[in-house]
Amino acid sequence: HTAAIIPCPFNGGQGRKGVELGPNRLIQAGLPSQLTSLGWSVSYDPSEDPREAVAPPLPEGDAPIGRMKNPRLVSEVNRKLMGRVGDAVGKGWLPVTLGGDHSLGMGTVAGTKSVHPDAALIWVDAHADINTPETTPSGNLHGLPVSFLLGLSGTDVAPFNSWMKPCLRPTDIVYIGLRDVDEGEKRLLRENGIRCFTMHEVDKYGIGRVMEMALDHVMGGREMPLHLSFDVDALDPTVAPSTGTPVRGGLTFREGHYITEAVAETGCLVALDIMRQEVNPSLKDSMSADETVAVGCSLARAALGETLL
Ligand code: ARG
Ligand code: MN
Ligand code: MN
Ligand code: MN
Repeated sequence: HTAAIIPCPFNGGQGRKGVELGPNRLIQAGLPSQLTSLGWSVSYDPSEDPREAVAPPLPEGDAPIGRMKNPRLVSEVNRKLMGRVGDAVGKGWLPVTLGGDHSLGMGTVAGTKSVHPDAALIWVDAHADINTPETTPSGNLHGLPVSFLLGLSGTDVAPFNSWMKPCLRPTDIVYIGLRDVDEGEKRLLRENGIRCFTMHEVDKYGIGRVMEMALDHVMGGREMPLHLSFDVDALDPTVAPSTGTPVRGGLTFREGHYITEAVAETGCLVALDIMRQEVNPSLKDSMSADETVAVGCSLARAALGETLL
């Protein structure tokens, strides 16, 4: 098996600096060799500068379109990322995209879907990231990727509609870890009948039962290709402190890893995103950044088959 590491140091989907430093930190922490030790052959080119992929030339400038901030940049970066993820999946490789903010989920999921239209999606996050260009309270595109993938009303807009076609059905996706969902998003989740396991359900059923129900919902026979998009802010801030939008009451270290272990057990994983691994370069935060990076690496290893025994 080959895992293709795709570092994506991108922060254009939101306003904070730091999230673009995550991919490099995961790589410096040894993620490529850790995956090699698990028996994967790892495709990763250290001589390639991943910053080029996230800084495309934008001749027209990048004024907001409606409420959307940096729309051309986010669109162009995701268009390219869709191609990279699609190429890897097409070769039978497992792309491991290292973000970067979660607007990148547009490109990664669209890439997987370009090869496997029937792919299921597990979105692990404190947030639903399903705002539309009309409902977004912030204009930050990291809060919108799922609505574009679903093709919800208001998402058929330039520049995205030149390359992105709706590719996700509401029954393809399941959420785990939600606890900070905007009012407009709650309505969209309800109207589209999207299955959500918020922290309330994690508390009520336990993570074991939640994963069983989540997998039953999106891939009943456990035979569909599966894309896992893991936003590190799904974890409790005590576990992953170094993230831009910490929300209390999140997944424990073990709950997070149980999700990735259960995904690995399906044998169906075709693409993995480890997103919003934020790193604040200031000294005061260097401990929490190290901890958060270590969790990102161990989540990726667990998703790629590392077991406890
Ligand atoms: N729902 C809020 C918004 O649309 C916050 C989204 C936060 N997303 C995230 N990936 N942290 O702006
Ligand atoms: Mn997210
Ligand atoms: Mn989030
Ligand atoms: Mn909020």
